[in-house]
Amino acid sequence: MSATTTVVILMAMAEEAAPIIGELGLVRNGRLLATPLPMVVYEGCVDDLFIALVVNGVDERFGVANVGTQPAVLSAYVAIQQYNPDLIINAGTAGGFGQRGCQIGDVYISAGSFKFHDRRIPLPGYTEYGIGSYPAENTTAMAQALGLKQGAISTGNSLDKTHTDLDMMGVCDADVKEMEAAAIAWVAWLYGKPMIALKAITDLVDSPVRPEEQFVDNLAAASENLCQKVVEVLHYYTEDGPALSLRHKLPAIYA
Ligand code: ADE
Repeated sequence: MSATTTVVILMAMAEEAAPIIGELGLVRNGRLLATPLPMVVYEGCVDDLFIALVVNGVDERFGVANVGTQPAVLSAYVAIQQYNPDLIINAGTAGGFGQRGCQIGDVYISAGSFKFHDRRIPLPGYTEYGIGSYPAENTTAMAQALGLKQGAISTGNSLDKTHTDLDMMGVCDADVKEMEAAAIAWVAWLYGKPMIALKAITDLVDSPVRPEEQFVDNLAAASENLCQKVVEVLHYYTEDGPALSLRHKLPAIYA
């Protein structure tokens, strides 16, 4: 581990990231991660952590945020190359299951492994490959210390869901449905980087109201909640003193 402890925060949408950038006073880095990538980087410090927050930027052709697994993989890869982080945090918004006790505005921290619910490949070995089940850091102590809900996170490339998606999420006991975490977890696993995810709930997957309506209505408030929890998590990693305390709070990777 280098003398400076680096945390990379990967986020899909500018609207999700804006409160965190403001609260932490992060400054936009003139260099893009690598031309011609659309990702935008903001840098700063929290206690003695160096923070690089990467937002996936805007798709030039469609004028919307680069959500989903392709930009997520690309930004994770390039951010690891550029920053060699000690920890990756994927922060963003998500759908949640009311039946599992989830409420709009809740912020979940990842538990268990990161899975996909929309990669169906019914061939020997490929079924499990499709689901992924990439390792996640043990967050139980942090969740208890910060009063965060822990949940299993499931990733797919759609805001809505099919019946098959629902079945897959049911089998995996998913609490949270979103569009990036498992993709990032794959890259983190390839490079042996510890990763956690924090997801603020904008919509209930099992509500009769369409997810896009709920999402638009709740995005701003959920992003504020997300900001508060991301800041608490960063302070949690340094509360016992200097940056190396991050190391003993990530036992799975550094043991
Ligand atoms: N992001 C916010 N809500 C979501 C949902 N229901 N599905 C996937 N990603 C989301």
